Amino acid sequence: MYQVYIRSFADGDGDGIGDIAGIRARLPYLRDLGIDAIWITPWYPSPMADGGYDVADYRAVDPRFGTLEDADALVRQAHALGLRVLIDIVPNHTSDRHPWFLAALAGGPGSPARERYVFADGRGPGGDEPPNNWPSVFGGPAWVRVTEPDGRPGQWYLHVFAPEQPDLKWANPEVRAEFEAIFAFWLDRGVDGFRIDVAHALVKAEGLPDIPDEHLAGAPFPPGEHPHWDRPGVHEIHRSWRRVADRYDGGRILLGEVGVDDPQRLVEYLRPDALHAAFNFGFMASPWSAAAFRTVIDATLEAHREVGAPSSWVLSNHDAMRHVTRFGRPSTERRHSEPMGPVESDLELGTRRARAAILLMLALPGCAYLYQGEELGLPEVLDLPPEVLDDPIWARSGRTVRGRDGCRVPLPWAGEAPPFEFGPESSRPWLPQPAAWRNLTAEHQAAEPGSMLSLYRAALRLRREHPDLGTDAFRWLPSPEETLVFERGAGLRCAVNLSSRPMAVSLPPGASVLVSSEALDGAVLPPDAAAWFVVGS
Ligand code: NOJ
Repeated sequence: MYQVYIRSFADGDGDGIGDIAGIRARLPYLRDLGIDAIWITPWYPSPMADGGYDVADYRAVDPRFGTLEDADALVRQAHALGLRVLIDIVPNHTSDRHPWFLAALAGGPGSPARERYVFADGRGPGGDEPPNNWPSVFGGPAWVRVTEPDGRPGQWYLHVFAPEQPDLKWANPEVRAEFEAIFAFWLDRGVDGFRIDVAHALVKAEGLPDIPDEHLAGAPFPPGEHPHWDRPGVHEIHRSWRRVADRYDGGRILLGEVGVDDPQRLVEYLRPDALHAAFNFGFMASPWSAAAFRTVIDATLEAHREVGAPSSWVLSNHDAMRHVTRFGRPSTERRHSEPMGPVESDLELGTRRARAAILLMLALPGCAYLYQGEELGLPEVLDLPPEVLDDPIWARSGRTVRGRDGCRVPLPWAGEAPPFEFGPESSRPWLPQPAAWRNLTAEHQAAEPGSMLSLYRAALRLRREHPDLGTDAFRWLPSPEETLVFERGAGLRCAVNLSSRPMAVSLPPGASVLVSSEALDGAVLPPDAAAWFVVGS
């Protein structure tokens, strides 16, 4: 599954912002890359307070991205090329310009329109204090006070993300019915499923209790006890969506963005009557360490086996520092909010590790999720000028945390200078592309057998073709410290050297290399490298 971050994938109309026409023009590239499906980030009408995750109309396409007819044509074209299409659905919150929210403001306290969102009276004299102490994910408090239709300061509404993203009240049957209808609207148009934004959010604890201080300071809650994440009631909502998806033929898919790292807890979401799959953020958080990878791989495989769901693997997405940069840092685990200041990263090392990591990931059983541009080895852009930063985290943190724009820079497709055919020659991409990306364009790399793109193509082709990679068979084999070796069925072995010494891979006679991240000397892997070997007859 390949993630298309629509604003930054390809710009068909030259306004500097990616769009559906751009995606359509690049579908053959995606087919040739060897993927099975794409997930497209939100394309709905939106004020773009959070890159489209603030939806003003769930049944339309933003004119910046195209029209509903363009969306239909994209789905048809993708299907003709053998690619499936998932779209992003954002059920936890709407935009503050959604007609429902405008009606909630106009309706006043106690109105049915207000019951669709999480409104509450403030605390303290005059209700001047927020209803509780919940912080927003993007910084600052999670509440905004509204002015009532009579002009007086009034109730407060909850926004777990930006103030422009008011949280819906999922206890209200009208909200549930509306989303079931939205799912059906898109399934009727032929989409193959949904990536569900913050699928572990939605339900809020009765009475909106404060978060105790120790948890505000970072101590984890016991499972199910956080007042607005991962609450037990969320599964019933997912089951209702699954009933909608199951009415359709063709195996429609619900893929959850479930921000739960513990695999045992994660698979609670993946039942035969609930979501089909969820991203594995535990894998994505793993540092460059054999023991850490082994632990998360074992825990993932075991937990998913228990519920009969496919394991999933992911290294990057539009919310995280690109992994070429992350793996080149002295500290290689995923960090959430990155403060301002210089980020030290050895990109040559990070690129070597990224090459090895993709061979590790694509050799694992289950679903692999790729983020656009990782197949080009793009690094995080760390020096975007402050005036172009668009992520709400930047403003909400008082301009101390740069946020996620550095992994969202428009893709370089071809040519020697920006816009690198992201859009027409005269266009200006919404975030500036580094001049150094001339060596990383898809066109440049397609012609280079040793490029990141060629490695992805080769590994994805083998993943599709090699019979042992299409099964669940998986077995660790003994290997030296800071290395990993596993077997997929009797015929394929993957070896990863995460150490700083060369690794002699022990192989049966007659074994040969299928693909490797670096040039090999016989069966000796250099540091920070990986290879797949075919063994047996
Ligand atoms: C998760 C999305 O991936 C992220 O980009 C967005 O900011 C939040 N959900 C809020 O919708």
